[in-house]
Amino acid sequence: MSRATAIAYANLGLAKYWGKRPGAGNLPAAGSVGVNLKALRTITTASVIDGDRDEIRLDGENSPKAAARAGAFLDLVRELAGKPLHFRIESRNDFPTAAGLASSSSGFAALAAAAAHAADLRLDERALSALARKGSGSAARAIPGGVTRLIPDVDEPYAVSIAPPEALPWVWSIGVAKTGPKDISSRDGMAACAETSSFHDAWIRRAREDAETLERLVLSGDVDGAGALIEANALAMHADGFAARPPLVYFLPATLAAWRAAVELRRQGVMAWFTCDAGPHPVLMHPPQHAARVRETLLAIPGLERVIVSAAAGGVEVTG
Ligand code: PMV
Repeated sequence: MSRATAIAYANLGLAKYWGKRPGAGNLPAAGSVGVNLKALRTITTASVIDGDRDEIRLDGENSPKAAARAGAFLDLVRELAGKPLHFRIESRNDFPTAAGLASSSSGFAALAAAAAHAADLRLDERALSALARKGSGSAARAIPGGVTRLIPDVDEPYAVSIAPPEALPWVWSIGVAKTGPKDISSRDGMAACAETSSFHDAWIRRAREDAETLERLVLSGDVDGAGALIEANALAMHADGFAARPPLVYFLPATLAAWRAAVELRRQGVMAWFTCDAGPHPVLMHPPQHAARVRETLLAIPGLERVIVSAAAGGVEVTG
């Protein structure tokens, strides 16, 4: 095949990946667990072209920085193929990118799958996940389906599915915050924490333990136990940033207000749990029957401008 289209879903960290061990290719310092979200989709077409350079169009734009990162990733595909192939890449996100939700996880998972297929590389799920990881750590988790876990302590870390999408009987309500100053990428944020945060080593120990515990809780069907761990894990990851010098604070007032709202909802018997990746947008996970109530609660928070409700999704899909 010299052309392939891949669809990948953004993978939200549940037990977060936030720290690397030395070496190239996003080697994680600890395991992590995430879930693919249906409402946050990237669709990427890769075609092998004649010529001596790649043509990369991301969301219809020619953003030099994103294109350079995608181009560097395509070097890895060329290396695996053992041929100087060049690609035309067209990639778009199926959700409002202006909202600042663009995710490197769905982006690199879709790029890895589309380019590997177009180049006729026959990679199994493990190899494809390890390849996607080299674009962005969380992208490894977006290759398999449902609830996925990154296995850290091997030469080429990769992710596996630990449970199907319906294993966590929630929907995910994403509060889209009016964004403030330009975000610091997770790549730069992690590096800053590793270098300057006095909490970082403690966080990594906690992250290792949390990823293992969360897998057990998901597999045993302890949904509230999983929710409580996910929420505490997210706050611990952000605390690592708070302790960096200079402080790395992704939260806006609206983010913290969403956490408080989750605590209050639970007090009222609505089992909603909070998490947040490396940005200001809070995510509440909760049983689907409470979607209207959670939406109303999030929209009442000043600084949150819309809510995207998502189910969990399967893994990357490739078509011709
Ligand atoms: O994949 P990266 O390098 O964008 O890192 C993702 C980091 C978090 O989203 C904050 C956590 C996670 O586990 O996805």
